[in-house]
Amino acid sequence: MFANNQIFGAPMAGITDQPFRRIIRMFAPNVPLYTEMISCHSLVAAHKNCLRNFDRYDAEGNIGAQIFGADVNLMADAARILQDAGAAWIDINMGCPVPKVATRSGAGANMMRDHVLAEKIMRAVVRAVQIPVSIKTRLGWDDAHRDWAELIQIAADCGVRFAALHGRTRAQLYTGASVLPALKDSPIPIIGNGDIKTACDVQNVLNLGYCGAMVGRAMLGRPWILGQLLGTAHAPQNIGQVAVRHLGYMVDYYGERNAVTMFRKHAAWYSSGAPASNEFRIRVNQTRNVRDLCNEICEFWGCEVEI
Ligand SMILES: Cc1cc2nc3c(=O)[nH]c(=O)nc-3n(C[C@H](O)[C@H](O)[C@H](O)COP(=O)(O)O)c2cc1C
Repeated sequence: MFANNQIFGAPMAGITDQPFRRIIRMFAPNVPLYTEMISCHSLVAAHKNCLRNFDRYDAEGNIGAQIFGADVNLMADAARILQDAGAAWIDINMGCPVPKVATRSGAGANMMRDHVLAEKIMRAVVRAVQIPVSIKTRLGWDDAHRDWAELIQIAADCGVRFAALHGRTRAQLYTGASVLPALKDSPIPIIGNGDIKTACDVQNVLNLGYCGAMVGRAMLGRPWILGQLLGTAHAPQNIGQVAVRHLGYMVDYYGERNAVTMFRKHAAWYSSGAPASNEFRIRVNQTRNVRDLCNEICEFWGCEVEI
């Protein structure tokens, strides 16, 4: 089994929100987790339609708040706001490949091809806060530019404390296998990421010289996986009970109407692979209130729980 500083829950936009993190912490109370990526523009302007701009992290323990953006001063301001909100560390997104972020805004993965801007942002963010700063990046922009080691050296020179490395390029998006390079003499600790699903995958990453392993999509519909890897939890006997609790947390956070719609994707992940899951998904997508949704979940998994 692994230690709390060896297993990390990856940042995932639209997924690792506060309710999902609460569910993960039922199984792995002290595991380091990341927020979803947070826009420095939205955060600093305190846009009201984005609930996460107002999250408090004081009670969340080991949590890294991830920011993205290309404006040096706003990134520093965003880091200060998140420090004040109680984040344990600040992570800078240097890997998001989606065009809206990487090409149209010059943020995320763009930092892999603009090391000058990346350095300015890292220096400004490190200077702005007293808590540790990390980066999350990929192997490089594309096959011809696999310069992750250079970016990580710059990060170390800027005072960034650790990095997470996803074993794909920006051009690969999420396709093809993630292949992590073996490390030697890394200037800062690096966490390996990409396609990690089992204890064996974690061990392989550690054997390559990484100090930890970051799990992303394997958490979908299986929020207990980090607890399993840490040896603090087993898979639940009844998934329905976990799903209802997760739904309850979403209702607390988003309100009933939004929670019912937003929970659909989680219902699909929780039920994936189970017999008659297609029919279940169709019924779930037709529910309009939390009571009906809760009833569908209870019926599907044969449990009796109330929100
Ligand atoms: C739906 C989705 C949302 C993601 N959002 C973020 C994000 O907000 N910030 C980030 O750094 N990476 C994000 N990622 C990338 C993951 O953190 C991770 O690097 C990637 O999924 C590879 O790990 P995996 O194979 O374990 O899923 C996202 C990935 C997915 C699938």
